[in-house]
Amino acid sequence: MIIRQTEYFVKDKLDDDTSGHDWWHIERVRRLGGYLAKQEGADLFIVEMAVLLHDIADEKMAGSEASGMQAVQQWLWQLPLSRAESEHIVSAISTVSYKGGHGSPPRTIEAMVVQDADRLDALGAIGIARAFMYAGNRGHLLYDPALAVRETMTKQEYRHGRSTAIHHFYEKLLKLKDLLNTESAKKLAEHRHQFLEQFLHQFYREWDEAME
Ligand code: ADP
Ligand code: NI
Repeated sequence: MIIRQTEYFVKDKLDDDTSGHDWWHIERVRRLGGYLAKQEGADLFIVEMAVLLHDIADEKMAGSEASGMQAVQQWLWQLPLSRAESEHIVSAISTVSYKGGHGSPPRTIEAMVVQDADRLDALGAIGIARAFMYAGNRGHLLYDPALAVRETMTKQEYRHGRSTAIHHFYEKLLKLKDLLNTESAKKLAEHRHQFLEQFLHQFYREWDEAME
């Protein structure tokens, strides 16, 4: 019941998102999270609730970290949950995002599973498709060879600095496989990571063919 109500609440908010965070992203992460929770012995209820709400809380979606978290807390507050459950869910949500390497590390197995599931959906063919959706939505270029890949950047620079969809591979996506928490996610990440590399290989091949 609690899950079902939360599902409706989130669906309504994310239904028309075109930045790669639509309802089907939540549904995929939920299924991946369910699988990882089973493998890792994590609490499925906490994982599902945190996955359902994680992008409502996201600063990219809510405008700011504070207003996003407030929306989540307001929602949780009117549900019949114990204080410990609510706090566990909020804590798992607060550690999910990459933030250019400035996120805080997950503190429980449930938070680890949620972060891993979200990151798996940023890899592979789906991850590539999402990165281009995001870039288009934010008005970023497909690629610009004149622009340097940022090795280090502040959270602010990561969010608002100049970048391209291809640059995002180096600034985040290719790093993810070594940042996963659980063994079961690392296994699923292997072929997804390989696909990122294959894609880049073909991309530069075509780019060079055109530019020769
Ligand atoms: P973060 O936004 O902190 O990187 P998320 O897990 O919330 O972490 O990212 C959600 C999705 O948005 C990811 O799939 C990611 O690839 C995409 N994304 C975030 N920033 C960019 C960017 N600058 N360019 C392309 N895609 C991006
Ligand atoms: Ni997400």
